[in-house]
Amino acid sequence: MLTEDLSSNILQQHRSVDAKMLILLTIHIVCAFAGFANAAQLTPVFEWNELTFNWPDKQTEEYALRSGQYVPANNLPLGLDRWKDKLFITVPRWKNGVAATLNYVDLKSSNKTPSLIPYPDWKSNTLPVGDQQPQEGTIISTFRVSVDSCDRLWVMDTGLADIWGEGKQHSTPAILIYDLNTDKLLKRYVMQSGDLKEDSFFANIVVDVTQGNCENAFAYIPDLGGYGIVVYSLQENNSWRVKHNFFHFDPLNGDFNVGGVNFQWTDGVFGLALGRIQPNGYRKLYFHALAAIREFSVSTEILRNKTAATDPASYFAYKLEGNRGDKTQSSASDLDEKTNVIFLTQLNKDSVACWNVDKPLNPQNLGTVAHDNQALVFTNDLKIDAERNLWILSDRMPAFLYRGLKPNEINYRIFKVTIDDAIMGTPCAR
Ligand SMILES: *[C@@H]1O[C@H](CO)[C@@H](O)[C@H](O)[C@H]1NC(C)=O
Ligand SMILES: *[C@@H]1O[C@H](CO)[C@@H](O)[C@H](O)[C@H]1NC(C)=O
Repeated sequence: MLTEDLSSNILQQHRSVDAKMLILLTIHIVCAFAGFANAAQLTPVFEWNELTFNWPDKQTEEYALRSGQYVPANNLPLGLDRWKDKLFITVPRWKNGVAATLNYVDLKSSNKTPSLIPYPDWKSNTLPVGDQQPQEGTIISTFRVSVDSCDRLWVMDTGLADIWGEGKQHSTPAILIYDLNTDKLLKRYVMQSGDLKEDSFFANIVVDVTQGNCENAFAYIPDLGGYGIVVYSLQENNSWRVKHNFFHFDPLNGDFNVGGVNFQWTDGVFGLALGRIQPNGYRKLYFHALAAIREFSVSTEILRNKTAATDPASYFAYKLEGNRGDKTQSSASDLDEKTNVIFLTQLNKDSVACWNVDKPLNPQNLGTVAHDNQALVFTNDLKIDAERNLWILSDRMPAFLYRGLKPNEINYRIFKVTIDDAIMGTPCAR
């Protein structure tokens, strides 16, 4: 699983840096003349050396620093999504001293290095002390969030703090749904025991809903450690676990070299992207394991129907879409319904790729949207907002986990590019 495999690989970071630099330099020069000529030049909208937070007052911040409740170096931004003037940014509790796990920055502000504002408030982001039970609205730790077309924010709370250290399971993994117009918690759904496996790790959530039919919403939650997908129905107030061989990682594609750090991961299904609504009323769910290079799909007609989803006879409803090519391991994906283009982070390539799902998936049809071996090291998350902008977050996570980041460098960046600019000149444009 993610955490164990990561810790067992700490020793592997001390490799020949000089040789690697030379190789990287060569790759960079070759790329400049070859494949990436059309890749858009991305300028960060936001960037940070270390994250700062919008504390209620100076004394509170100083107390949090003194007491260790806030350790600036341990706050890594990981997931994002946008709603109107709010850009949500998650900060999972990998290590101790995370100030707040769910935050936003105000897009009206012109500050390029803004302080994060806890969402919905500080209280919801405060860890219970000792064996205190978390309150109904407490968010322990979240990796990714999802804004839906009904003005709601869906948060996947793992319930686990200090993942990298001692690890404390404060609560069972739960889905929290907020009304973005009122900032009120609409619902907290605790996962059932049948949804969980020993190695379960729920770091992502996508929401399947149509405007005007907001109650009939489903969430698909990949289990990257237990190799499954949990389906949650808001209307039925129920959830079920789906398994398939395609949810597993690919043993031949678990080796990573990112920002000078070498490591091996076994993360299964993680990146999900929903397609357009088909004539039958259902979408296609495109999915892939993180430690893998192939893309698969299944109709939500299968997933939404508990009987069909858990029936072994549904095995053949899952399709192989294709092979993206060497070193195309991806943590996140999202689909633009207007162009039918999926965007994919490219962890092993310091880049972002695209694929027009109307074309067969193969390395030739995989376009490069952006590539930058400084600014796009570990493109952790990406999302498309309601105005068809693509948002990308890069955060050097392997260096953060295995050796620590340098506070005098820009470590975290968020980029924004319109979909049309992103695909211009790539095989994804028509
Ligand atoms: C929803 O289901 C949970 C069990 O998973 C139950 O505890 C809760 O009472 C249910 N809520 C409603 C409104 O039925
Ligand atoms: C759910 O799937 C089963 C087959 O697995 C099918 O018999 C049933 O009609 C489906 N239910 C709905 C509501 O589509």
